[in-house]
Amino acid sequence: MKFLVTGGAGFIGGNFVRYFLKNYKDDQLVNLDKLTYAGNLESLKDLEANPFYRFVKGDIEDSNFIGELFKTEKFDVVINFAAESHVDRSIDNPAVFLTTNIQGTYNLLQAARETNISRFIQISTDEVYGSLGPEGLFTEESQIQPNSPYAASKASADLICRSFFETYSFPVLITRCCNNFGPYQFPEKLIPLFITNLMEDISVPIYGDGKNVRDWIHVEDHCSAIDAVYKNGKPGEVYNVGSWQEKTNLEITDILLRELGKPDSLKKYVEDRLGHDRRYAIDSTKLEKECGWKPRFNFDQAIVDSIKWYRENEWWWRPLKGSS
Ligand SMILES: NC(=O)c1ccc[n+]([C@@H]2O[C@H](COP(=O)([O-])OP(=O)(O)OC[C@H]3O[C@@H](n4cnc5c(N)ncnc54)[C@H](O)[C@@H]3O)[C@@H](O)[C@H]2O)c1
Repeated sequence: MKFLVTGGAGFIGGNFVRYFLKNYKDDQLVNLDKLTYAGNLESLKDLEANPFYRFVKGDIEDSNFIGELFKTEKFDVVINFAAESHVDRSIDNPAVFLTTNIQGTYNLLQAARETNISRFIQISTDEVYGSLGPEGLFTEESQIQPNSPYAASKASADLICRSFFETYSFPVLITRCCNNFGPYQFPEKLIPLFITNLMEDISVPIYGDGKNVRDWIHVEDHCSAIDAVYKNGKPGEVYNVGSWQEKTNLEITDILLRELGKPDSLKKYVEDRLGHDRRYAIDSTKLEKECGWKPRFNFDQAIVDSIKWYRENEWWWRPLKGSS
């Protein structure tokens, strides 16, 4: 089998490439990535010689290039991670989110439909559901109510995926995951930003009152969830991916301060993010029941391991700090 992974030079895609090469011994993986500021081949340097792995530089917005690639490569499975992924950037400059996340996904779907693809997995996000009050969880039946340009672009891509299933019986499956953390995450995102700031005694910016809640999953659990959906999911279905580990931003900050032995004075409260969703929480019962998946990583241990990883891998993150 030949798999196309898009966005494999980014955080989750790169972790998925590693997961795949460890678990799928006889299958080929092509990693297609434009190498935006968020794409970094250094993350995959040790895999370059693997005969089952190949990198192709390219842009999912370029429909001619994508069409040709699909014709020549004859992929069996597509997993689409490629996206603009940072909410703050989408507030400052929404346009590229629409072209990459919507047009890019459409180009992949269209090219895949014209060739013989057995499965197309769209990597989406819980942010498409909007914000929750203090109670309740998002299920796959929850209304789609995206609030940021990022979330709206991902929701739009999900709807195009849905239409390809309903209209053409195209075998697309959608996963909607909560906030990820772990190795190789670009240091603009909360956890790696805070760890790398604190390591250097730089203050950490806390939006608003710091009480926004997210469900946090270790990236390897997200990878195993995608694998479970690939193996056991039903085309046309949506699967939520969560780890039942809700934390406020303040709780995360306190854990990081404690584990890194840093003072409270490094907390810096800043003006809240525009349209900041208050709470996300995900019910992944469907994935657990239908695909036999369970998260493996406990937040308290996994965060300690992540801190260790950023401590031991300064070579990876230091060139990226303030680089974009
Ligand atoms: N990070 C999270 O917590 C999270 C949670 C749920 C879902 N997701 C989704 O998972 C996917 C991956 O997220 P991430 O955090 O790894 O993102 P990331 O920003 O770290 O990586 C995105 C990758 O996509 C590539 N890319 C961007 N535009 C491209 C284009 N036009 N053509 C080809 N490649 C392009 C970038 O170069 C980069 O390597 C995204 O679709 C995101 O919406 C992320």
